[in-house]
Amino acid sequence: MTTSAVSRKPASALTPEEARAELARLAAGIARHDRLYYQADAPEISDAQYDALVRRNGEIEARFPELIRPDSPSHRIGAPPAEAFGKVRHRVPMLSLGNAFSEAEIGEFVERVRRFLGIKPDDSIEFTAEPKIDGLSISIRYEHGRLAEAATRGDGTEGENVTANVRTIRGIPHTLGAADFPDVIDVRGEIYLAHDDFQKLNADQAAAGQKVFANPRNAAAGSLRQLDPKVTASRPLRFFAYSWGEASRLPARTQWEVYQAYRRWGFPTNPLARLCCGLDEMLAFYRETSVQRATLGYDIDGIVYKVNRLDLQDRLGFVSRSPRWAIAHKFPAEQAMTILRDIEIQVGRTGALTPVAKLEPVTVGGVVVANATLHNEDEIRRKDVRVGDTVVVQRAGDVIPQIVGVVPEKRPPGAKPFEFPTTCPACGSHAVREVNERTGEMDAVRRCTGGLVCPAQAKERLRHFVSRNAFDIEGLGEKQIEAFYDEGRIMQPADIFTLAGREERRSDKLVDKKGYGRKSVENLFKAIEARRSVPLDRFIYALGIRHVGETTARDLANAYHTWEAFRAAVEAAVEGGHDSDAYRDIDNIEGIGEAVVDALIDFFSEPHNTQAIDALLAEVTVLPFTRVMAAASSVAGRTVVFTGSLERLTRSEAKAQAERLGAKVAGSVSKKTDYVVAGADAGSKLAKARELGVEVLTEDEWLQLIAQG
Ligand code: IVH
Repeated sequence: MTTSAVSRKPASALTPEEARAELARLAAGIARHDRLYYQADAPEISDAQYDALVRRNGEIEARFPELIRPDSPSHRIGAPPAEAFGKVRHRVPMLSLGNAFSEAEIGEFVERVRRFLGIKPDDSIEFTAEPKIDGLSISIRYEHGRLAEAATRGDGTEGENVTANVRTIRGIPHTLGAADFPDVIDVRGEIYLAHDDFQKLNADQAAAGQKVFANPRNAAAGSLRQLDPKVTASRPLRFFAYSWGEASRLPARTQWEVYQAYRRWGFPTNPLARLCCGLDEMLAFYRETSVQRATLGYDIDGIVYKVNRLDLQDRLGFVSRSPRWAIAHKFPAEQAMTILRDIEIQVGRTGALTPVAKLEPVTVGGVVVANATLHNEDEIRRKDVRVGDTVVVQRAGDVIPQIVGVVPEKRPPGAKPFEFPTTCPACGSHAVREVNERTGEMDAVRRCTGGLVCPAQAKERLRHFVSRNAFDIEGLGEKQIEAFYDEGRIMQPADIFTLAGREERRSDKLVDKKGYGRKSVENLFKAIEARRSVPLDRFIYALGIRHVGETTARDLANAYHTWEAFRAAVEAAVEGGHDSDAYRDIDNIEGIGEAVVDALIDFFSEPHNTQAIDALLAEVTVLPFTRVMAAASSVAGRTVVFTGSLERLTRSEAKAQAERLGAKVAGSVSKKTDYVVAGADAGSKLAKARELGVEVLTEDEWLQLIAQG
């Protein structure tokens, strides 16, 4: 269909039958041109002709709104603006990838995969290799072949509903183009902007006196998160499909064949993707692509390798938040030279003093960098970094920019070595480097001893408390916490939840504050109310206990299920000390080591902390943690110990599989062990199991048990 195929009659003169027929022709024709443009890269008509088709479609729809088709191309042009984005829970979390920066690390990755699966040295294993697109990931749900919902990644568990905006993206089909699709599938991939579209967008923005974007990724993100889909529609966003979330059935047995299915259904997939047989081919692809990178026309920041067979992907499973079956091989970091203006000391939530380099702003890999981390005082001494020096800054992906080193020839005369402070810049307390009792080594980090009197630590703890993976309170960001703390509004977490109630009694009302209005205060209070109940894992993480990151918090929540059980266990360990059973019980949890148990004990021994928690618990409800897969498996919640050599599974695979089914895998046998799975040559653990009367299973019996589901 070309523009000449469009009827010359004005829309107002069409009969309903003519209108219906023409809308059908337009829908099919425009969809075809979309495919030619985005997938085949072979448009048959000019952009102006395309726009004329879309305009004609719009004119007819305006005259006959009752005839608008569900697959109408006008949905690509933008539905009415939304109030705000709703939240969408990802039924299968959107995870990230492990990173590698050298060929040696990729060699180790391949080895790890082979070892885990028990693949013999002579047998080969296939991987797909494809560029890692520097855009933003998206999950698009198709129900019965129709686009139903699209969500951003968000924190990986919950994203924003951007369905109306995604419908405007020309490369994303509204209905799947071949009949072999499953009832339900979340198609995942990357939304990005090509270099020339980015340049044009920025030129237009500048001409219109609007904000220009730092790089294509920010521009793509900004374009997708537009409340008015018409704005998104005017930005030429592109898409590559490369993975999936929930799927009622998969169309293939390998990653490679899924890409073929994606293409059949109408999605663009990266034409450079390649099937590789082993390490040499993977690395060859990496080298070739690094050369092509400059002329690709869009930003990529590395190569992603994925195990090709989906059954092997399933067996490999996940560690923490990344798949064991895939890895990102990053391109080397981009570097630039600039002048170090100052070294500022920041105080973190656990009192760590971190030196931050204040730089003469410089563009590194498309982003303006004004701050970089200097890690700690030893690092400053080792690199002999001095204020006034010309330094080399480097930036790789999302990581904080780093100072690689100084350019000694450019050192100004009189530059003095940096003296690291021995008192806290925020509260004046002594700052010390602790000596680890067990190893006898001095900690690299100097810490403020001010604890709860230090305002910097208090603010950092609050910031952590409201952050995205903790309480996630919208409208309470870094700036607000800082101001609310200084004004005495929020001094500890519980104060957040009593903020609204205390407003009346204050003379300096929030609504009168600069930058606030009635609506924004209402929204803030609403966001706070929405967080009066919080799952146990987020709650533990939010407390900001040293060494307790997200994964550890989840491991603890998974082991104890309720807040009461967790607290009782920790208090018993506080009471019993290092040699108690209570201590060992926590230490025995998979993923938890002594450093964590010690940190829990330190935290809960401090009355100020327990008081702050009690005040908080008067305001919020901690929801029990739903154990991973608990209901679905016969071994959920059970503790199992593997010993001896297994034949059908490797040890790490057995462990990962048991954990996936909700079981705890322990390293030693105790009264609390439910099963000991004994392979050949099992020794002392088997004897201990017999002594304690713990049930002993052979490898086959174990496999039968878990097969019962
Ligand atoms: S596969 C389980 N393939 O990289 C994760 N990711 O660090 C499966 N990305 O969040 C992801 N290009 O946004 C995959 N070809 C590609 C990719 C890609 C870019 C992004 C994606 C993901 C991040 C992981």
